[in-house]
Amino acid sequence: MTKIMNILLLPGDGVGPEVCNEATKIINAVANSFDLDILIDEDLIGGISIDKYKTPITDEVISKAKFSDAIILGGVGGPKWDNLASKDKPEKGLLRLRSDLDFFANLRPSICFSETSGASTLKKEIIEGLDILIVRELTGGIYFGEPREKSTKSAFNTMIYTREEIERISEIAFESAMKRNRKLCSVDKANVLEVSELWREVVEETSLKYPEVILEHMLVDNAAMQLMKDPKQFDVIVSSNLFGDILSDIGSMLTGSIGMLPSASLDHKSKGLYEPVHGTAPDIAGKGVVNPIATILSVAMMFKYTFKLNQVSEKIELAVKKALSNGYATQDIALPNSKILSTEEMGSLISEYV
Ligand code: IPM
Ligand code: MN
Repeated sequence: MTKIMNILLLPGDGVGPEVCNEATKIINAVANSFDLDILIDEDLIGGISIDKYKTPITDEVISKAKFSDAIILGGVGGPKWDNLASKDKPEKGLLRLRSDLDFFANLRPSICFSETSGASTLKKEIIEGLDILIVRELTGGIYFGEPREKSTKSAFNTMIYTREEIERISEIAFESAMKRNRKLCSVDKANVLEVSELWREVVEETSLKYPEVILEHMLVDNAAMQLMKDPKQFDVIVSSNLFGDILSDIGSMLTGSIGMLPSASLDHKSKGLYEPVHGTAPDIAGKGVVNPIATILSVAMMFKYTFKLNQVSEKIELAVKKALSNGYATQDIALPNSKILSTEEMGSLISEYV
């Protein structure tokens, strides 16, 4: 028996509980086949926590998160809470969790499996074989900048980055590029924003430590266009919180469906928060049709980045590929000949393959 792994499960709202159920199946399956000692605790975040405790995340959940090794999250938010002020919204729970635990490095891989390329609105040849990694800064920038204010006459937010914040996310991006094809594209808006000028300078300075990595800078508007036009030109992309948020949604369509995209948010010790890139999809919540693969692949990332168990993570990825190549699909990635499965059936099939 190895050391006990403590995982906190925060299913949240909408389709969150459904995808987290399937994540749990996968964790139990690998715990069995690799003889791992895993403890899963579960608690509330988002709208469901607002309903029960009048806050999107309680101090107790924050401290549970601090004592766990990894957190798996479903999603937060939904129409029921849309009219709350932004400081009271379910999303604030997730933002507080990211910020209080210093999960500054958000890794969002966009990988296009040949079986799902047909589900994208883009041409197959543009996206097939795509494998890029978006590194998004997650605890700074305009999401958290002070001051911020709203009155009925005007409103503002502050986009601010310190040198240290840019340095540490650049390091992660260069390190990631070193393990891949050694190409890094830093995305900013340096033709307009001072904050981007500093971003560019610091990324340049960091690049001196990584002479093997080819560094390129791109303006965010052009980057959005290039991602649509020729996504395979990229290897690793690094960007600020807001730009990275937008670019990673583009990244999702490049894989066929946003239902396929996992993510990891890491602190400097590789403790992590793992969540699908998709949201709570209120329109399909409770219907048993949501694609659990984004969350299942997030579990695979957890074993790789937090627990350093690459074989476990590869086993999960292989099981996902096997389900796809055997012609199984959830609705969002279905092609005319696919065998369509419900959320639960897909999760069970993948855990069986594991
Ligand atoms: C994401 C989401 C979040 C974000 C929301 C839910 C606060 O869109 O993880 O990409 O903007 O970071
Ligand atoms: Mn987003």
